[in-house]
Amino acid sequence: MDQLAIETENLTRAFKNTTAVEDLNLSVRRGEIFGLIGPDGAGKTTTIRMLAAIMDPTSGRASVAGYDTVRQPEPIKRRIGYMAQHFNLYRDLSVWENLNFFADVFELSGPERVQQVERLLRFARLTEFRDRRAAHLSGGMQKKLALACTLIHTPEILLLDEPTTGVDPVSRREFWDILTDLHLQGITLVVSTPYMDEAERCSRVGLIYQGRLIVCDTPEEIKAMTEGELLALWPSDLRLARQVLEGLPGVLEVQTYGEQLRAFVKDAATTVDQLTAALATNRIQLLQWSLTQPRMEEAFISLIRRERQELRH
Ligand SMILES: Nc1ncnc2c1ncn2[C@@H]1O[C@H](COP(=O)(O)OP(=O)(O)O)[C@@H](O)[C@H]1O
Ligand SMILES: [Mg+2]
Repeated sequence: MDQLAIETENLTRAFKNTTAVEDLNLSVRRGEIFGLIGPDGAGKTTTIRMLAAIMDPTSGRASVAGYDTVRQPEPIKRRIGYMAQHFNLYRDLSVWENLNFFADVFELSGPERVQQVERLLRFARLTEFRDRRAAHLSGGMQKKLALACTLIHTPEILLLDEPTTGVDPVSRREFWDILTDLHLQGITLVVSTPYMDEAERCSRVGLIYQGRLIVCDTPEEIKAMTEGELLALWPSDLRLARQVLEGLPGVLEVQTYGEQLRAFVKDAATTVDQLTAALATNRIQLLQWSLTQPRMEEAFISLIRRERQELRH
């Protein structure tokens, strides 16, 4: 069996005014939980639609489960589960009825069908809500039901488009726990999300920005790619300290988190000395500082900044 679940080659989709996806080269191995991460408008939905074989590229190609998305969409559709960003549940049907509707679509019958519906109810932690109408479920429960419906035909590859957008943090975590269960069962998952922190739960992530893949690697490798050292600083006046800091040489980038400034700098010791001196003239103290490791979000912002600079030059 082909070890690659998904492979794209210069995959491109242009619309009238924008190129939503440009020269995307991506490969996803079987059994991976792959995160497609990027802000709104980055091209996530367009990419996933092309992989789901419901939208054709304007150039380039993609294969999913070994089949070409343009020439062989049917075998792909049998092997994938696709959860659209704005999926449609039947609002007037109950949880159980929604699952059975999808069981009809995929022609499941007999005891196998009954078992599958019960299994998915348990798996999605929805058994006690089986008779509740979809319209009356919380946002998080609707997403779990949509996921359960996506799994009815036991797909080998799952394409989930922003399944946690707009969901509260607790439900987001529970949803990711369920995705981790699927990953442990050996299913290949491609999950798109605008939430940088979710990258931590993937085996590999691709960061896309303005239709282009900026980086594609494990979360650990991506965090190691940032330029310079990362300083965490606690000044007595946050706003003023930020202004001073941004004006110093060797300071690449400054972000504020609560009472803390976090700055990527070329050389931490030099920056701390210069900052302390500059702040002293303004009667501001540097209460505390430390060298720290970048979080995923900071790594991404740093990589996007670097990309922007390269585009300008
Ligand atoms: N059907 C379409 N017609 C024209 N432009 C589109 C269409 N779909 C998406 N776009 C544009 O392509 C870009 C990427 O959109 P999308 O793939 O939805 O990004 P994301 O899912 O990352 O938010 C956006 O600029 C969007 O406006
Ligand atoms: Mg989208």
